[in-house]
Amino acid sequence: MCGIVGYVGNERDAKKVIIEGLRRLEYRGYDSAGVAVAQQSAIEYRKKAGKVADLEAAIEAAPLDKSALGIGHTRWATHGGPSDVNAHPHVVGDDKLAVVHNGIIENFSTLRAELEAKGYNFVSETDTEVAGTLLLEVYNTEAEGDLTRAMQLTAQRLEGAFTLLAIHADHPDRIVAARWNSPLVIGAGEGENFLSSDVSGFIEFTRDAVELDNGQIVTLTADGYEVTTFDGEAAEGKPFRVEWDVTAAEKGGFNSFMEKEIFDQPAAVRDTLYGRFNEEGALTLDELRIDEALLRSVNKIIIVACGTAAYAGQVARYAIEHWCRIPTEVELAHEFRYRDPIVDQQTLVVAVSQSGETMDTLMAVRHAREQGAKVIAICNTVGASIPREADAVLYTYAGPEIAVASTKAFISQIVAAYLLALYLAQVRGNKFADEIRGIIAELQEMPDKLQTLLDNADEIKQLGQDLANSKSVLFLGRHVGFPVALEGALKLKEVAYLHSEGFAAGELKHGPIALVEEGQPVFVIVPSKGSRHNLHAKVFSNIQEVRARGAVTIVIAEEGDEDVVEFANHVIRIPESAGLMQPILSTVPLQLFACSVAEARGLNVDQPRNLAKSVTVE
Ligand code: G6P
Repeated sequence: MCGIVGYVGNERDAKKVIIEGLRRLEYRGYDSAGVAVAQQSAIEYRKKAGKVADLEAAIEAAPLDKSALGIGHTRWATHGGPSDVNAHPHVVGDDKLAVVHNGIIENFSTLRAELEAKGYNFVSETDTEVAGTLLLEVYNTEAEGDLTRAMQLTAQRLEGAFTLLAIHADHPDRIVAARWNSPLVIGAGEGENFLSSDVSGFIEFTRDAVELDNGQIVTLTADGYEVTTFDGEAAEGKPFRVEWDVTAAEKGGFNSFMEKEIFDQPAAVRDTLYGRFNEEGALTLDELRIDEALLRSVNKIIIVACGTAAYAGQVARYAIEHWCRIPTEVELAHEFRYRDPIVDQQTLVVAVSQSGETMDTLMAVRHAREQGAKVIAICNTVGASIPREADAVLYTYAGPEIAVASTKAFISQIVAAYLLALYLAQVRGNKFADEIRGIIAELQEMPDKLQTLLDNADEIKQLGQDLANSKSVLFLGRHVGFPVALEGALKLKEVAYLHSEGFAAGELKHGPIALVEEGQPVFVIVPSKGSRHNLHAKVFSNIQEVRARGAVTIVIAEEGDEDVVEFANHVIRIPESAGLMQPILSTVPLQLFACSVAEARGLNVDQPRNLAKSVTVE
């Protein structure tokens, strides 16, 4: 993971731009941060274990002069623990050359040994210092003082994943960067240019961005940029315009980004649905670019994803199988690749990822394509690696998600996956047009229903405060409520550090019920009364079973479901909806609950310990 920013320009002070960018990228990692700026013939830098705020304090204590060029980094430690010395930038060669890096260099120990044999010493445990030192060695020898050439030659020797940015005191007008399996975008301004791990690093200054491809090198100056391949051949980036502005990446009066993003959900669903069907209600997923004949030949779907995105996949599976009658599996991306999965040309792999950079998911995409499968990405970040490598992409339009714990991305992933399912049903003739129209109409009702739920958020927030000192919390759900229960438990673990487990309600009697003792909080997600196979009655029995054993039951039930009242310590009401739509609503109280418990426990809701939003290592 890690976040990277680079700035070169005529007007602004580089360190200020970089600190601002790092603050926006801090979700990518926040155990240390640093900045290096180029002055005439010298590089100055500050780096610090801790958050970007600690770096700012260090700069206040030992100010850096104004400068036109610099690079910065916010870290999620891989090689070497979080410490001042392991923080980036790594500055080598008598403070002449500074580098920041995102990724993992797999052959770093061989390279380190080679460089040590040549007389270089290392002060940190990082792979980055090795990359920087190799760059220095190449710069001083083969590349004869040409920083771009040195980066090309160095990149050819590095294995693994890296976005590497370098500045050299002898060239205080340029940043040179390489991209391989880690993200990097250019922000194109007037008389100034930016580099960042994603557009939020420069969105305040420009919305004109340029995507770089794997295997490219960029040399950035105030007036422009040049792109080459690692071999030095001229190449090009892909320009795009960022559709959202800086306000979307700010808290807007909420206590945390997580809370704000929970409240963004009606808009996220509306935007994800927008323009995806015509006036007759037929799906028009033009961006899918996969031959319809091929979609008709699909005989198996495998959804690959990690974390919350995998739970969205689990929800989607119920809809895909029900609407399209295609056998569907959901697999954690990191497990998928290594179990020799049965994948062929008739398999459709759907990769779900908010960031589009999760390395485990990216590797699963590559593996699937190597086996001849077609891959469709469901992704929130335009131009990220996963959609770029997939055969087609269906973007969620949830806007930037900053809090580490995913909320609005989850809901929009479900909506996007439902659109994909309906499209498949349309193409394959599994559903009549009027049936598809009916389901779309239900989806279109979701933003208003979500808003109704959010208008009553205070009640759930209060419950979060009341239960903030619980030892553990259990979540039960059935059918589509099962992945919702898993997601509710994950949210609570992630942001409140509270032990929590989600179970399939039917499994309760096969083990988990032994956990229930007097006062144990148990959330139960109750299916709508009209749901198939009388699921409502079955879950209703589960509520009674745990209540009889002393549980404090928090029941999430639809408006008008009065049966549950007698056995509920708390009832949280959600608007009525068709069974498959319910997860879009029933997840929201669980998100609010986790957020409120974390706040009551005095935790940093947006940046939970040990986590990072985008995990770009395997
Ligand atoms: C990390 C984050 C999770 C996220 C998962 C998948 O583990 O902490 O919140 O669900 O990655 O991320 P993706 O960007 O692929 O959806």
